[in-house]
Amino acid sequence: MSHNQLDFVRHFCIVGIPKTTIETSSMSDKVLFFDTTLRDGEQCPGASMNLRQKLEVARQLEKLGVDIIEAGFPCISDGDFEAVFTIANTVKKCRIAGLARCVENDIRRAAAAVAPAGDRGRIHTFLATSPLHREFKLKKSKEEIIEMAVAGVKLAKSLVNDVEFSAEDASRTEHDYLAQVVEAVIDAGATTVNLPDTVGFTTPQEYIAMIDYVVKHVKNIDKAVISVHCHNDIGLAVANSLAAVTAGARQVEGTINGIGERAGNAAIEEVAMALSTRPEAFGFAAGEKPHNLETREIVKTSRVVASMSGLSVQRSKAIVGENAFAHSSGIHQHGILAKRETYEVIDPAEVGWGETELPLTKHSGRAAVKARLEKLGYNLSDSEITHVFERFKKVGDSKKFVYDDDLASLVNDSLDTCDGTWKMVDIQFVAGSAARPTATVQLEKDGKMYTDCAIGNGPVNACFKAIDRITKSKGELVDYNVRATSIGQDALGEVTVKVQFGNCECSKPVSGKGAATDVIEASARAYLNAVNRNISLAALAAAQA
Ligand code: KIV
Ligand code: ZN
Repeated sequence: MSHNQLDFVRHFCIVGIPKTTIETSSMSDKVLFFDTTLRDGEQCPGASMNLRQKLEVARQLEKLGVDIIEAGFPCISDGDFEAVFTIANTVKKCRIAGLARCVENDIRRAAAAVAPAGDRGRIHTFLATSPLHREFKLKKSKEEIIEMAVAGVKLAKSLVNDVEFSAEDASRTEHDYLAQVVEAVIDAGATTVNLPDTVGFTTPQEYIAMIDYVVKHVKNIDKAVISVHCHNDIGLAVANSLAAVTAGARQVEGTINGIGERAGNAAIEEVAMALSTRPEAFGFAAGEKPHNLETREIVKTSRVVASMSGLSVQRSKAIVGENAFAHSSGIHQHGILAKRETYEVIDPAEVGWGETELPLTKHSGRAAVKARLEKLGYNLSDSEITHVFERFKKVGDSKKFVYDDDLASLVNDSLDTCDGTWKMVDIQFVAGSAARPTATVQLEKDGKMYTDCAIGNGPVNACFKAIDRITKSKGELVDYNVRATSIGQDALGEVTVKVQFGNCECSKPVSGKGAATDVIEASARAYLNAVNRNISLAALAAAQA
């Protein structure tokens, strides 16, 4: 697409001239999705995933058809390196990126981590360019930044063919200087140039103006894909990403469910469905497929990310929230029944809703549970399926139907039981207006059983204290939420907790999730899940030291 055509499309998109007047004949270049759920998403407080959980997410992202998976920041920890390396070795269809600062050690580590992906490996190197970052963070001049960026890209290019450069805080960088940086890194070998809105500050008009400037002033811009990466601090991440597409960006970076640092990143499912639903509004021909995603995998992917990261999806969230297609008012229901399009702009089936089959019951066998898990997007080993199946049987004894959402909640527990972590065996508690709340908990670790009991100010608190006594941890509960995973009085209660371990200001709260028909048991499971995550994090930190 030429720059003049871009101008033309954008102008008409913004002023809202009917789509028939937009030149679309050469607009078939698709928008690539760069998924950073496992890197920027994982930076979300409390979202840390273990290797097994990251692999599960990566496999589902592959089914969703994202073009690039940013699997981690290899030099930041051995755990991140291992995750990028393992994902690069496992995923076969997507490009695999490893993040690196513009320094030699980072870049070499990233190259080693993405090596198993062969020519699908990408080094994503970044350096801040804005005046604020230059002066206060990097303490470097404009010229020094360009030198560092060029040296970093050249080194990366000597190690892999696919190099992306990000000008961190691009949206607050002087346009003329940004253009100089972009031109220099493309000359040095970058084939993707990312212009992030790092602090979620820009607006659609401003972002378009920035990209426009770069397109017009960087003479080698046709040798690279323009990428955008938007944070959601003022709620504009998706709008800014879409505006950038109208300005010619052809890679959009984001995360599933919009998870990420602070207010999160652009939600990939929202950007994708905006493009699919209104292609002509963003410069594509009506009916054209503007990206490569398999949209029917969206809901599954959202669930896998929610259960693996421990971060639940808000009910009213667009596309993937439970209420996204629920119509409660009589007028709407009537309209939908008469013609779906009266109140729905997307067919829910298009994003994977409504594919649910009959719920399972306690009579369902292991094979049925295994098949359902696969259908839900999980790729579990035999021992993991056995673990989920054991829990399924217990849950099936106390409720008539086990719904898909119930099953998804049980998976989280099962992938959290690697070496050195604790497994819940039994829990009993006594509570009531006249009783002293007491809990007895039995846990297993590496084949050994441990039992202890505690008194608390309520049964949940007593369970947490008993777990603390066994695991020798000292957690401070900072957030607690409970919700029903399915319908009816016998629904599973799913509890999400955030727990602060230790009183060091630098340590972030760790999240945990647990599900059971009894909310006190679910609370204890969620707390134990947080304890296990904390143990994995501490082990990683120790390995790094
Ligand atoms: O937000 C940001 O600028 C980033 C870069 C590393 C791309 O995450
Ligand atoms: Zn970011």
